[in-house]
Amino acid sequence: MPSISPRRFGLIPMLTAATVSLAAPGVAAETVSGSAVWSAQCAKCHRDPARIAASLPAASDDAGKARLDAFLTKHHATDPKLRAALVEWLVSQTRQ
Ligand code: HEC
Repeated sequence: MPSISPRRFGLIPMLTAATVSLAAPGVAAETVSGSAVWSAQCAKCHRDPARIAASLPAASDDAGKARLDAFLTKHHATDPKLRAALVEWLVSQTRQ
């Protein structure tokens, strides 16, 4: 009789660069997807992150990321965890 190995369900799901794990790996409830934050809180006004790409810092630009983070505290992203995931995802969009 075929059986499904329980190990398959123990695997950490493939995470894209857009997903930031805020807790120990495998704790799915603590994982916030920056693209999901974008869809929920930004996309209604900004259709495509490419359109604001000129305002986004490079992934290696910590000062730029801090400025973006500070801007977003007053611009539709008040939750610090969601904002952190969002900033990481946004900077990952600048090279596409
Ligand atoms: C209610 C509509 C609205 C929502 C929601 C919104 N924005 Fe904006 N955003 C704007 C407008 C309008 C501007 C241009 C004027 C300004 O700078 O406030 C802007 C400007 C920006 C800029 C600067 C772009 C530039 O050209 O310099 C960035 C970056 C940005 N938004 C990111 C975000 C992110 C990330 C989110 C989600 C957390 C978001 N916005 C949610 C309306 C919105």
